[in-house]
Amino acid sequence: MTTARTSDLWWKNAVIYCLDVETFLDWDGDGIGDLRGLTERVDYLAGIGVSCLWLMPFQPSPNRDDGYDITDFYGVDPRLGSPGDFVSLIRTAKDRGMRVIIDLVVNHTSDQHPWFREARSSPDNRFRDFYVWRDRPTRTKKASIVFPDAEDSIWAWDDKAEQYFLHAFYSHQPDLNIGNQRVRDEIAKIAGYWLALGVDGFRVDAVPFLIDTSQIGDVDLDPHEILRQLRSFISRRQGDGVLLGEVNLPPEQLIDFFGGTEADEVNLLFNFNLMQAIWLSLARQDAAPIAEALEKTIAVSEDCQYANFLRNHDELTLDKLTDKERQEVFDAFGPDEDMQLFGRGLRRRLPSMLDGDPQRIRLAYSLLFSLPGTPVLFYGEEIGMGENLAIDGRLSVRTPMQWTDEQNGGFSKARPSRLRRPVVDGRFGPLAVNVAQQRRDPESLLSWMERLIRRRRETPELGWGSWKGLRTNVSSVLAHRCDWEGRAVVAVHNLGDQPCGVRVKLGDVPEGATLDDLLDERGALREIQDGSLELKMDGYGFRWFRLTTPDQHTPP
Ligand code: BGC
Repeated sequence: MTTARTSDLWWKNAVIYCLDVETFLDWDGDGIGDLRGLTERVDYLAGIGVSCLWLMPFQPSPNRDDGYDITDFYGVDPRLGSPGDFVSLIRTAKDRGMRVIIDLVVNHTSDQHPWFREARSSPDNRFRDFYVWRDRPTRTKKASIVFPDAEDSIWAWDDKAEQYFLHAFYSHQPDLNIGNQRVRDEIAKIAGYWLALGVDGFRVDAVPFLIDTSQIGDVDLDPHEILRQLRSFISRRQGDGVLLGEVNLPPEQLIDFFGGTEADEVNLLFNFNLMQAIWLSLARQDAAPIAEALEKTIAVSEDCQYANFLRNHDELTLDKLTDKERQEVFDAFGPDEDMQLFGRGLRRRLPSMLDGDPQRIRLAYSLLFSLPGTPVLFYGEEIGMGENLAIDGRLSVRTPMQWTDEQNGGFSKARPSRLRRPVVDGRFGPLAVNVAQQRRDPESLLSWMERLIRRRRETPELGWGSWKGLRTNVSSVLAHRCDWEGRAVVAVHNLGDQPCGVRVKLGDVPEGATLDDLLDERGALREIQDGSLELKMDGYGFRWFRLTTPDQHTPP
């Protein structure tokens, strides 16, 4: 399993963990998490089996979009530490065998960025064409407004410039002019800078917006050429540097962002479609939506892979479901208006959506880690943190990490009023949910998650293999199989709350093969009869098996 190829394409069997430095651990006691605090917790993350950190933006920013509005692409927000602290973090992570990727937010800058300040000052300014200007805006279709709570157009008037400027997101985030070669050179320089400081790649923010040239005017450039150029730049600087793209588009459109069969654009793409299907399946207790989404997920070339997630830092978007389907998920998991956002998503975390049901929560994570692709966790998922709905909008899920049951959940020694953001209170708050307590308990979610992650990393078929859905005779049961280099893994999930007996048609089975139970600690071997597996499943039960023949070496 460990060959030159598998270690170069490390992202195919990675476990990625997304976090925001400012809410992870506050080391200097000012109420804001910092790089020093995160560095102190690298061993914790390595210990649970995380193999790649994804850092949300930590550059200087007025923080009007929680750091996704940057004023210096080459800096570190002084509240979080210094460039030296950043390098220490990278050094520590590498020492523990961990990769680090960072957000590359270059669709736009903050309106406080020196480039924009200069650009506004005069039409002749050398930064004027770093942005996209118009004398008269065109009307914006409602569907293209990303933040309908705050904006009604993608054009905003600037008094100083006496022109309108383009902004796909908030009007304080002017879009960079990607049609301008100088801007593209600068983006490469930014990526090169962070690679030189030791990062292993980037989560590329808002990719379809970044490469969209339709509003720019006279640009003779294939939008995908922008990604190809970025990809080849990264590969020249660092062969195994990765690009993980945020592209929330229908499955058939994703393939272009991988670069089709050439595989010369991004390496990883979040599977927003599968994520939304998982929530619909959970709501209906029916395997069909996931099975259909898997069928629609187009197989990609060997260098590429989908990244799976159940929850990210934004609203849990359900925009690809029909209105009726979305309503079903709202009714099941976020019925109050205050739990919903932008009419398309939820601002809750998974454990509260699943009403704290430990078995159902484990079922959801077993799905995340066994569906084909690279799993991505959002900090705090490993212990089952909830949200704080008293915090506005998408920020309800970006509360401080819960380390202990002490004040501020052990996140900071500062007075609670000085915290970057309040902690969660109540049922999912630090008194009930924290790392310290769960470390001591072998039955806790954290201890279970550690075992699950270990098993996932030992099961490369899931990240590398080709997948197919398997036929079962029970509608609440999803069964799928991943094949890779003569090996195969079968996973079975009961989305229903009732126990059931199920028959799973396994497909091709080598002579004399048995099934080795990968999650059951007893490691029981099961017989296969007539190419089928008969199983008794608990309500919300889940099982993983490896098809094993007597001559194979498989992990214990
Ligand atoms: C990020 C958001 C951010 C937006 C603008 C997104 O896609 O995930 O958190 O607000 O880009 O940068």
